[in-house]
Amino acid sequence: MCSHPNRSEFQPEARWCPGPVLGIESSCDETAAAVLSREGQVLSNIVSSQVTVHEKFGGVVPELAARAHLGKINMVVGEALATAQVSKHTLGAVAVTQGPGLAGALLVGVNYAKALSYGLGIPIIGVNHLQGHIASAWLADPMFPLSCIVLVVSGGHTHLYRYEAGGRCILLGRTRDDAAGEAFDKGAQMLGLGYPGGPAIDRIARSGDSQAIRFPRFHRAKNGLEFSFSGLKTALLYKLREMDGPLGSQRTADLAASYQEAIVQVLATKAFVALKQSNLTALAVVGGVSANSRLRTVLSERAAREGICLSLPPIEYCTDNAAMIASAGRQLLMTGERPYADLDISPAERCVTIHEKTEKIPVSLRDKEKANS
Ligand code: KG4
Ligand code: ZN
Repeated sequence: MCSHPNRSEFQPEARWCPGPVLGIESSCDETAAAVLSREGQVLSNIVSSQVTVHEKFGGVVPELAARAHLGKINMVVGEALATAQVSKHTLGAVAVTQGPGLAGALLVGVNYAKALSYGLGIPIIGVNHLQGHIASAWLADPMFPLSCIVLVVSGGHTHLYRYEAGGRCILLGRTRDDAAGEAFDKGAQMLGLGYPGGPAIDRIARSGDSQAIRFPRFHRAKNGLEFSFSGLKTALLYKLREMDGPLGSQRTADLAASYQEAIVQVLATKAFVALKQSNLTALAVVGGVSANSRLRTVLSERAAREGICLSLPPIEYCTDNAAMIASAGRQLLMTGERPYADLDISPAERCVTIHEKTEKIPVSLRDKEKANS
């Protein structure tokens, strides 16, 4: 919690509040459901991970992910309602991840949510997964300033946004190739650390020397806000070829720590450049990679030094979860977004209610989709 002069409620206008919101997330390899109270408090947050399904393949297998969601979703939703001590008949709405993500996986969540909404006669609201991650910045701290820089770092995205009071979100920069999470996952694979790679590198890096190998920091342009991680991955590959032969645990730890350091320093540097360029003093870092312990330390230390108000969600809200989806859905409903029963999945990448720098702002993602169709 920080003391910031512009702290204000995340919900500027409360127009919609009929009851608790059930959130459902099934975009990738986590089946998740959560219940938020009418007031937006997290009453339950259940996540069923598919790590054991995919680990022997070294990554997510889409067909297996969809089947695993199908097998788990009813139980996970039941557990979320039971933990929250909320009857499904008192729900006010259901929010579900519409995309981006794996088509088969999304279909399971969206169709389950549609059936629930139809059966219970409650509104259903589709949520963009990135918008969910962004909403997680306010989950544990609803008074975090609305005008801030948001860095979304997940398995598929590395996006820097300027978030403005009123919910306007402007894309400032993104990765031009691999996402930060992808760089962790691929790096871990090369180091023989398995899947999921981010947590594996994070763990082993603690016993390594981050200065042992100087990996390149790709900044693309000085003070630019675009990211690139594919060169770093290649640098690790060359380093491994050069070393040739069994690495041993200390060498692996040194490589992991040095590789992690290169990713962390680039992420932190650009987030702070964005703060400076936008003349803002609040930074939120969200998405799976924000669980990284080294990134959290570097960001916290620098924020404290420079007087920046920092939102780093608790770990359970960093990686995929449904509390963030329920929260984003609740926000959409409260700010006048109309639910619609015939919503469909939207697997392809799309940026929230987000607009390249000076572009005119459409009302919502859905309006943008309509405009494009
Ligand atoms: O947000 P998320 O759970 O799913 C997507 O939307 O992609 O992010 C998953 C990504 C994976 O690439 C995973 O390796 C990474 O987040 N991740 C981490 C850590 N925990 C998860 N990366 C670095 N350190 C971690 N502790
Ligand atoms: Zn995610």
